[in-house]
Amino acid sequence: MVAQNWVCGKCGFVAVDLFPPKRCPKCGSDRKNFKSKGEYYIPDDKIDDIIRVCGKVSYGLYLVSSVDGDKINGQICNTLFQITSNPPRFAIGINHGNLTHDYIVKSGVFAASILGEDDQRIVRRFGYRSGRDFDKFKGITVLTGETGCPVLKNAVGYIECSVLQDKTVDAGTHSIFIGNIVGVKLLNDKTPMTYAYYSKVKNS
Ligand SMILES: Cc1cc2nc3c(=O)[nH]c(=O)nc-3n(C[C@H](O)[C@H](O)[C@H](O)COP(=O)(O)O)c2cc1C
Repeated sequence: MVAQNWVCGKCGFVAVDLFPPKRCPKCGSDRKNFKSKGEYYIPDDKIDDIIRVCGKVSYGLYLVSSVDGDKINGQICNTLFQITSNPPRFAIGINHGNLTHDYIVKSGVFAASILGEDDQRIVRRFGYRSGRDFDKFKGITVLTGETGCPVLKNAVGYIECSVLQDKTVDAGTHSIFIGNIVGVKLLNDKTPMTYAYYSKVKNS
């Protein structure tokens, strides 16, 4: 599942998560009042089972970045995985409405910085608001990869990919971009952050 924006139909609160919250943290209204901004729809009689089972799927957390000329942007992404070994290719799932999506379509490149368990602040900065509203990279120390994409100096490491245009999949709310690896580097010896770890720490 992909984290997305769930809007409370009663008070307008926006929750970013894999699923709508059980209760709205702002007005207390029930999960069924939450709607996704996209076309995503879960039937009421299936949602508890879907949450129970899909919640067992493990993910890492990454800062996916891209460029548009001399502009840079990035977002948090849990839907990244190596899809083939020969040649080594990665796939990412990115919402059509995200600024990062626009940049990847225009430039044909993306980078994924592998976040460490100490990168909670990065998730809060890059995962909940769009680069259309503020400069997310302002004050963040970055390196520039071979593709020109910014990567976090303090990340565990990074992977840079060149998108295979003919292999991009329109999956509904999200595009699946598949790319050949064109650059990689291990930067720090720290523990990579999983989605489960982030959720536990965030809610503690
Ligand atoms: C933990 C977490 C995981 C996320 N995973 C994804 C993802 O896999 N794909 C996606 O499109 N958005 C994901 N998002 C949401 C984007 O990071 C978010 O919508 C971001 O504000 C988009 O920024 P942009 O418009 O600057 O590109 C995730 C957010 C969080 C907090």
